[in-house]
Amino acid sequence: MSTDPIFLGIESSCDDTAAAVVRGDGTIFSSVVEGQTALHAAFGGVVPEIAARAHAERLDGCAEQALREAGLTLADLDGIAVTAGPGLIGGVLSGVMLAKGLAAATGLPLVGVNHLAGHALTPRLTDGLDYPYLMLLISGGHCQFLIVRGAESFVRLGGSIDDAPGEAFDKTAKLLGLPQPGGPAVSREAERGDPARFALPRPLLDRPGCDMSFSGLKTALLRERDRLVAAQGGLFQQDRADLCAAFEMAVADVLEEKTRRALALYMAEGADRPALAVAGGVAANTRIRARLTAVAAKAGAAFVAPPIALCTDNAAMIAFAGIERFRAGGRDGMDLVARPRWPLDQNAAPLVGAGRKGAKA
Ligand code: KG4
Ligand code: ZN
Repeated sequence: MSTDPIFLGIESSCDDTAAAVVRGDGTIFSSVVEGQTALHAAFGGVVPEIAARAHAERLDGCAEQALREAGLTLADLDGIAVTAGPGLIGGVLSGVMLAKGLAAATGLPLVGVNHLAGHALTPRLTDGLDYPYLMLLISGGHCQFLIVRGAESFVRLGGSIDDAPGEAFDKTAKLLGLPQPGGPAVSREAERGDPARFALPRPLLDRPGCDMSFSGLKTALLRERDRLVAAQGGLFQQDRADLCAAFEMAVADVLEEKTRRALALYMAEGADRPALAVAGGVAANTRIRARLTAVAAKAGAAFVAPPIALCTDNAAMIAFAGIERFRAGGRDGMDLVARPRWPLDQNAAPLVGAGRKGAKA
């Protein structure tokens, strides 16, 4: 019998309502994710009030389903972990209230988890990575490099100062009349395109450091699109493919170079088994993934990409991050607060702006 703690994890910080049961040795007994894409489709982005209401309606059913699929009851658990931020506050509140209710009713320990720590600790859940490792989070709402030194110890090396890369993919798709989510659609188009036909910028590559910017890229693409439309009355299929290829290449170039710099800073720490891990929906992009694999190999680091269902928002990562915090002595009381903003690295300079999916982190 394993003596590792078993936790129920709860996630509701954006547009996925999720619950999962996970054991400390990395066993995922269940992981239920209920997306809300259809609810927000007509609005061109996540509507916080609709998301909060959907979470409130679905969370307890999700938790019940996670326990049922795990074949366990509340009595088999050792704790409740919940995303306490950062994210859309109404959704985070719904999750925190459910977790408090369950903890109060059962007497189980309550552990509040930073959503970004959930992403950042996933490579330990899936691949048992040793600390410290370098993490690149690239999704629709997140974009940052973190050196992960421990369950509650993160050093932020840089990140996007405006749009997250997934957000840029989504906006590009919208500009070109492609479906959402934009990443897979743009990537599919790019396969048939010539990345050299349009000269898009490589924002912030001329500046030192690991910060990135993606919103100017989308504006440059908009200019090229409008120029073509004015000249020829519309876009031909090849134009669209070439624009997608140019965009994807620019994002890949920026990510590759900034990752090379982040790796250099991380490698200087002298980890025994150095590794670069990625998480977030954009990590599913095959061309970007190939670039990151190559840049890690060149630096002498292993490349780790968790399965995509664990790279995108889910509650298994929250349960696991809760267990890691619990093992390190972390506990919360009934005064646990839901936080819209919550940087992982308290010493890093704060970022400005709020993205499509809520507070940037
Ligand atoms: O991690 P995720 O599921 O959700 C959050 O943002 O929290 O990431 C979704 C993002 C979307 O912006 C989507 O367009 C992008 O990941 N994405 C991709 C690909 N697949 C998903 N971007 C580029 N290439 C892809 N193949
Ligand atoms: Zn996330």
